[in-house]
Amino acid sequence: MGKEVFEEYESNIRGYCRKWPIELVYAKGSIYKDIEGNEYLDFFDGAGALNYGHNPDYIKEKLIKYLEEDGIIHSLDMYALPKEKFINYFQNKILKPRNLDYKIIFPGPTGTNSIEVALKLARKVTQRQDIWAFTGAFHGMTLGALALTTEEMARKAAGVSLNANSVHIPAPHFMDGNFDTIKYMEKLLEDDHSGYEKPAAIIIETVQQEGGIHVFSKEFLQDLRNFCDKYEILLICDEVQIGCSRSGTFFSFERANIVPDIVCMSKSIGGYGIPFAVTLLKRELDIFKPGEHNGTFRGCQLSMVAALAALEMTVEQNIPNIVKQKEKIVDEYLQKEIKPLLKENMQIRGIGLSWGIEFNNGKLAREVLDKCFEKNLIIELAGSNDSVLKIMPSLLIEEELLLKGLEIIKQSIKEVLN
Ligand SMILES: Cc1ncc(COP(=O)(O)O)c(C=O)c1O
Repeated sequence: MGKEVFEEYESNIRGYCRKWPIELVYAKGSIYKDIEGNEYLDFFDGAGALNYGHNPDYIKEKLIKYLEEDGIIHSLDMYALPKEKFINYFQNKILKPRNLDYKIIFPGPTGTNSIEVALKLARKVTQRQDIWAFTGAFHGMTLGALALTTEEMARKAAGVSLNANSVHIPAPHFMDGNFDTIKYMEKLLEDDHSGYEKPAAIIIETVQQEGGIHVFSKEFLQDLRNFCDKYEILLICDEVQIGCSRSGTFFSFERANIVPDIVCMSKSIGGYGIPFAVTLLKRELDIFKPGEHNGTFRGCQLSMVAALAALEMTVEQNIPNIVKQKEKIVDEYLQKEIKPLLKENMQIRGIGLSWGIEFNNGKLAREVLDKCFEKNLIIELAGSNDSVLKIMPSLLIEEELLLKGLEIIKQSIKEVLN
C-alpha cells in the first residue's frame, strides 16, 4: 500500500511528515535514508533527542549486549542494576564535579512527564499554586506543562482553560529586547494592587528553543536566581531540549553559574532516541511520599543502559568542548556567509549548536525550509509565526557535513530572498 497507509489510517494530527513527506528506513550519524534510497542530511536532530546522532556505535553495542543477555527491561521503580550504574555515574561524573547535590526522580519517559512532576513538587513544597513562565515558553503538551507553553494552536487544542495558576511574564526579548523583566516581576510582588500572587516557582529554558532560539543572557539568569532567592520562589530549569551539552556545557545553566532548585531533562539524556527522562531536585525538596507520583514507564532499564553510555561518551570525549569548537564554525559561517544575505529586520541568534535565523516572516522561513528540503536537508522552524529557521545538527556531526548543511541553507536563502 505504501505511504497511503498513513493518510488512510493515521490521524490527521501527524505534523512533521507533512514538511518532509518521505518514508524513513535507515539512519546513521547525521544521515537519514528513505525507502527509495535517497539520503538526507539531518539538521533537526529529533528535536534535540539525538544529540549524538543516529545510532551511535558506542551506545548501540551496549544496547545489543544488554538485550542479548536478557537484561531486565521493565521494572517500574524497583531497584535494578542499570539504574544503579546510571545513578552512580551521573552523581560522580556529572553532578559532583559541578558541585551539584541533586536527588533524582525518574518520571515517565518524556519531557512533559519531567515537567509535570516538577510543577507538582514545587506546589507541594511551597504550598503555593501559581507557576510563572516566560512569553515564548514551550514546556510540553500535558495540561500542566501546556498551561506554561505559549504556542497558540497547542493551547487552543487543550479544550479547557489553561489560565488557572499559570502566568506568563514578558521575557526581555518580548519587547524588542528592552523589557526589564526582573523589575516588572518585582513590582508585581511588591505592589499590593498588582493583582498577582507569589508563585511557587518560575520555570525557564535558558535558551528558548521552540520559542525561536532566544538566548537569555548570563546576567538575566543570575538576576533571576537572585530574584527567586529574595522572594523564596523555586527556580526550575527546563533542560529538555537545550541540555546534554547542546549549549556548550552539559547543563545550559552552567554558563551563568547558577544552581536551579529543580532541573527537568529528557530527549538526549536517553542518548539513543529511546524515551527517558529525569527530574533533579535539591535534596531538601525531597518531600514526596512514596508513590505519590508514579507512571508505568519510569526507568525503562534499556533507556538506563543507553543513558549511561551517553554520559560516558560525554565525559570521555569531552563533548561540551567539541560543541564549543563547532559553535565557532557555525557562528563564523552565519556571520560571514549568511548575514550579508539577510534584510535589516532579520537576525541571527544562537549558542553552542543551537542557532536560529529570524526572518520575521513565517512565509519566507517556510520557503527557505522547502528549498532546503529540495536539496535533501531536514531542518525545522520555530518561534512566533514559525519565522525562525532552526539549525540544530548533531553535536558529533562531521565538520564536512556541518559545512555542507550550512551551504545548503545559504543557497536556499539566496534563492528565496533574491
Ligand atoms: C523545552 C522543552 N520542554 C519540554 C518538552 C516536552 O517534551 P516531550 O515532547 O518529550 O514531552 C519539549 C519538547 O519539545 C521541549 O522542547
